[in-house]
Amino acid sequence: MTSHSTRKLHGDLPSASSKVASADRKELAAIAFERTRMPMVVADARTPDLPIVLANKSFLELTGYAAEEVLGRNCRFLQGPATSPTAVAEIRAGIADEREVDVEILNYKKSGEQFWNRLHLSPVHGDDGQILYVFGSQIDITEYRRIEALEASEHRLLREVDHRAKNVLAIVDSIVRLSNAEDPALYAASIQHRVHALARAHSLLAERRWTSISVEEIIRQQVAPFAAARASFSGPDIRLPAPDVQPLALVFHELAVNAARHGALAVARGTLSISWKPGPLGTGLNIRWQEVGTGIPPKSAKRGFGTVIVGAMVEKQLQGRIERNWGNEGLLVNIKIPADRSPSYDAPLDHAK
Ligand SMILES: Cc1cc2nc3c(=O)[nH]c(=O)nc-3n(C[C@H](O)[C@H](O)[C@H](O)COP(=O)(O)O)c2cc1C
Repeated sequence: MTSHSTRKLHGDLPSASSKVASADRKELAAIAFERTRMPMVVADARTPDLPIVLANKSFLELTGYAAEEVLGRNCRFLQGPATSPTAVAEIRAGIADEREVDVEILNYKKSGEQFWNRLHLSPVHGDDGQILYVFGSQIDITEYRRIEALEASEHRLLREVDHRAKNVLAIVDSIVRLSNAEDPALYAASIQHRVHALARAHSLLAERRWTSISVEEIIRQQVAPFAAARASFSGPDIRLPAPDVQPLALVFHELAVNAARHGALAVARGTLSISWKPGPLGTGLNIRWQEVGTGIPPKSAKRGFGTVIVGAMVEKQLQGRIERNWGNEGLLVNIKIPADRSPSYDAPLDHAK
């Protein structure tokens, strides 16, 4: 140390100081270094491996080490298994180039607790331009990072809620525009039933915390109130992502209402069999809706709102295909929903008209 002290430091002057303060500048600087709440260390650049020669109270408090445990050591003792080697390499390169370094690095306290360190390093040169010391300051940004991560996940959640609200509003919009009845009371009732079907699917999603829902559960929820013991449900446990649940629920609501009014559930011995399986490559979803007991379609059958909404949900919202055929036994509906498709949240339903 004695040989070091003969060299003159190329020091910075304070940005603002009066004559009085200038006279006490060195002592005041030492007091400030010790009293600041910012952890700080100084390493000796002329001794191999940059040992710490000064550390303030805040540094010891942050890291949990005692003075004698840090003096004479290289600061890398703060690093550990999860510290990024890239961040370390960045520091190494900055020190070698004798330039300032700003890096966020994962460090460890003496207790083993991890903390995120926003590290700033700055070389201190002598009047002759030779590097003498490296000054370092550490800010614990663990809490800041935690809040940042929380905010990011909150942001994602809000976007998700926004998408889903838009999606369901688009469905409701179609229901309102396309529902059709001469009588205002019937018109209101038809809308209400459809909105209730959506609400039931919504409750199911909320109960499951907006995770995927089994196809069987979605179908049963919508069909069982109309079909009671006359429907059979069969298929493997396939789960549908949350955004697809409401469109599919409305499809089954409409098919069930239609069957109850004009189809198999409207005749005494009519039955309904609903089965599903994955698509040909083991992905996606194929659903078969078979009504039995009605025979050929009633002459009065026309493309009503139910058919329109089913088509809109399958083709626009779920980007699938639907086929309706009347066999000898009754209506057969095949629905194919592909697995890979672009997000369907905002798909407009207007074309369904
Ligand atoms: C003054 C000074 C302070 C430092 N403070 C830290 C620190 O708080 N955390 C850290 O991970 N590394 C810190 N370092 C970096 C390491 O001491 C070391 O330079 C770095 O790990 C790169 O060198 P290495 O590859 O030989 O380990 C500091 C370095 C200096 C010179």
